[in-house]
Amino acid sequence: MTRYSVRTPDELRASRRPRGHSCWGHLIVAPLWAQTGANLGTLLRTCDAVGACMAVPPHDWVSRALRKGNTLPGPSCIHRTGNPANWLARERDRGATLLGVELATGAIRLGDLQPARQRTVVVLGHEHRGIPDDVMDLLDEVVEIPMVGRGASLNAAVAGSLVLYRLAGLV
Ligand SMILES: C[S@@+](CC[C@H](N)C(=O)[O-])C[C@H]1O[C@@H](n2cnc3c(N)ncnc32)[C@H](O)[C@@H]1O
Repeated sequence: MTRYSVRTPDELRASRRPRGHSCWGHLIVAPLWAQTGANLGTLLRTCDAVGACMAVPPHDWVSRALRKGNTLPGPSCIHRTGNPANWLARERDRGATLLGVELATGAIRLGDLQPARQRTVVVLGHEHRGIPDDVMDLLDEVVEIPMVGRGASLNAAVAGSLVLYRLAGLV
């Protein structure tokens, strides 16, 4: 007897939402210093999967990368920021928790991160330089994903996706 079988595309479609989620303002991933278009496309798919929005700076190349990398049907929930630090400060003023995803002293481990109960902005760092020091000072909490390999860090989109899944309570 077969115990497992790969679900068919029709079965998968039937178990998904017919449309993208609207912005309920609960989880927002913020790759504010992204340099790589492919990472934005990857994060957009994770956002759709977990019901999160994405905040990006209003650069032309970012809009082009999102159009190119968006393999999902229909619109996605995308917030355009201006200056990253100012946008984050405004989010904090309106009550959002600012959660940094970074290799940082004092950070909590991914396994200890609880699902988000209120508006949470998930701040990702620059692909080479990480989160700038002045923005680290704005953060309410920082989470680090433990690693045992030889690499210094994870790909930023992978790190953001792991944290989003945890915050959404799906893993
Ligand atoms: C490639 S890393 C940044 C490079 C790293 N700061 C360095 O100096 O080598 C890009 C971003 O991915 C996220 N990141 C990568 N690995 C991570 C980990 N293990 N824990 C938490 N965040 C991570 C952080 O947001 C980081 O700023």
